[in-house]
Amino acid sequence: MCGIVGYVGQEQAAPILLDGLSRLEYRGYDSAGVAVYDSTLGTLSVHKAKGRLNVLSQQLHGGADLHGTIGIGHTRWATHGAPSDVNSHPQVSRSGKIAVVHNGIIENYAELKSFLISQGIPFTSETDTEVIAQLIEYFYDGDLLSAVGRVLHRIQGAYALGILCDDCPDKLIAVRKDSPLILGYGEGCSFLASDVTAILRHTRKVSYMEDGELAVLTQDSIQCYNHLMQPVDKEIVQVDWEMDAAEKGGYEHFMFKEIMEQPQALRRCISPRIREGEVVFEDFHLDPQYIRDLQKIYIVACGSSYHVGMVGKYQLEKLTRKPVEVALASEFRYMDPIVNEHTLVVVISQSGETLDTMAALREARRLGGKILSIVNVVGSSIARESDQVLYTWAGPEIAVATTKAYSTQLAVICLLALYFARVLGTVEDGEYRSCLEDLLRLPDQVEQVLSQKDHIQYFASQYFNHDSVFFIGRNIDYAMGLEGSLKLKEISYIHSEAYASGELKHGTISLIEPGTLVVALGTCKRLFQKAMSNVVEVKSRGADVLALTTESCRKEMEGTASAVMTIPDARELVLPCLSVVPLQLFAYYVALMRGCDIDKPRNLAKSVTVE
Ligand code: F6R
Repeated sequence: MCGIVGYVGQEQAAPILLDGLSRLEYRGYDSAGVAVYDSTLGTLSVHKAKGRLNVLSQQLHGGADLHGTIGIGHTRWATHGAPSDVNSHPQVSRSGKIAVVHNGIIENYAELKSFLISQGIPFTSETDTEVIAQLIEYFYDGDLLSAVGRVLHRIQGAYALGILCDDCPDKLIAVRKDSPLILGYGEGCSFLASDVTAILRHTRKVSYMEDGELAVLTQDSIQCYNHLMQPVDKEIVQVDWEMDAAEKGGYEHFMFKEIMEQPQALRRCISPRIREGEVVFEDFHLDPQYIRDLQKIYIVACGSSYHVGMVGKYQLEKLTRKPVEVALASEFRYMDPIVNEHTLVVVISQSGETLDTMAALREARRLGGKILSIVNVVGSSIARESDQVLYTWAGPEIAVATTKAYSTQLAVICLLALYFARVLGTVEDGEYRSCLEDLLRLPDQVEQVLSQKDHIQYFASQYFNHDSVFFIGRNIDYAMGLEGSLKLKEISYIHSEAYASGELKHGTISLIEPGTLVVALGTCKRLFQKAMSNVVEVKSRGADVLALTTESCRKEMEGTASAVMTIPDARELVLPCLSVVPLQLFAYYVALMRGCDIDKPRNLAKSVTVE
């Protein structure tokens, strides 16, 4: 969603802000803006433009037109008010004295706006953010911090704020509630940002703001306060992501780069966790008796992470014989879930910031459950609010459509299922060891699948003109069909649905007509003959069938399907980590051939911090 960056130091702020914003573009946005304090004029200089960041950047000649060493910048993803220059951030107060950038939503903005209008304060935008800027000025009597404090007592909702006032041209104020914000400590400069990638070029020393905290940044120091305005000492952590991990490195798209990075990501995620024939989770403490006493495991997540949860259900139930329920995080808190102290709630989130997932986590905690999260972004809100965290260590994922974070989430779920099964004694020694060997082999097998990318590109060239695609499969192949379908629709804009194959004859098969494209998944050995029957069923009604199966079943499938993609033969536990790769590549190449904006699909954002 929206991105925030702020800088105070000795260098020109505008180029630093524009560069920081360019690193946040992947989050999705529709307009951008910056405010810089111009010391020669003694005022704030605010520039905003609808559209891509380069529109703003060109207007400002890369920032060269703006003079000043303190400023805030923003990429906006419209919620209140259409994308436009006026509705872009920074939003300023009536006199132009105070500028605010904001991520999140102010729920009671209408009421506050009416109040301010009744006080004779005119509004220029339709945004909820303008209310914050106007309200700060309304309370401002020379003490900015106290005015901000008074505003925070009145606004409700989720917000990360960057605030700049022309009376205090050496200070930035940062505020966080339910929307991420980090502080960066540079040499003679300080930063605020919604995402570490925005400031990684300048500093690796960061601290994570907690909900309710406020910070005052100057070029030499950052002082944080809690909601009672008591000073708080922040832990400064070193970010170990490499800068080039957040850059394209010669690839045309981040998505393709991230697909190709999966072998390394999986190695990073798996190998340190298998030692001397055992799954080892460092910094992870669940009492074995607690695991034995578990009555239920809930998996809660959104989108692709939810699809990982579906695979996780099959794997955890099979290996541990504990009941597992999977819920969409956006539904969880409205479904009166049955959670108690014997329920482990596994929360899966790449970003660690998805608002619905966070709300589900809090509801699960309220009901007495223990929270174990599987997260990619270190220090993210979900990671920090969980009892236990397993990081996926996939490295920064920039493309909106998740790929390497998804496959490492799957790998962590496999490790977790084996770990629990070992504690519970529900897996035989031999089986356990072979599973671990297969997991260690997995990155090489993914490399093997990636080496077939040209075949998949060829299939994409055959099918990219279809208007509608069905994905079918059973059990894990159904869960993978859902992910393949989501990948395709989100980046290529082709209508696509995934069905459990057995459901076809209960309705969907009426949609199959000559030329309909069906992607049929049949990687699961024990269900292969069933998959074949479904291929025959749709083929005989004229469908074009692109099948995905394992090497040993290729021949049989080739006799029936129109085209066949393959993955190496593997144990069911690791099959999904392999089968997702051709599906990702297929979606990528189809989108490429349709000329879509692959890394930033329309209407989508990388981190969904609104409900
Ligand atoms: C699809 C995709 C989304 C996310 C979903 C949850 O490619 O990326 O469906 O999986 O928005 O996001 P996280 O995992 O960050 O909670």
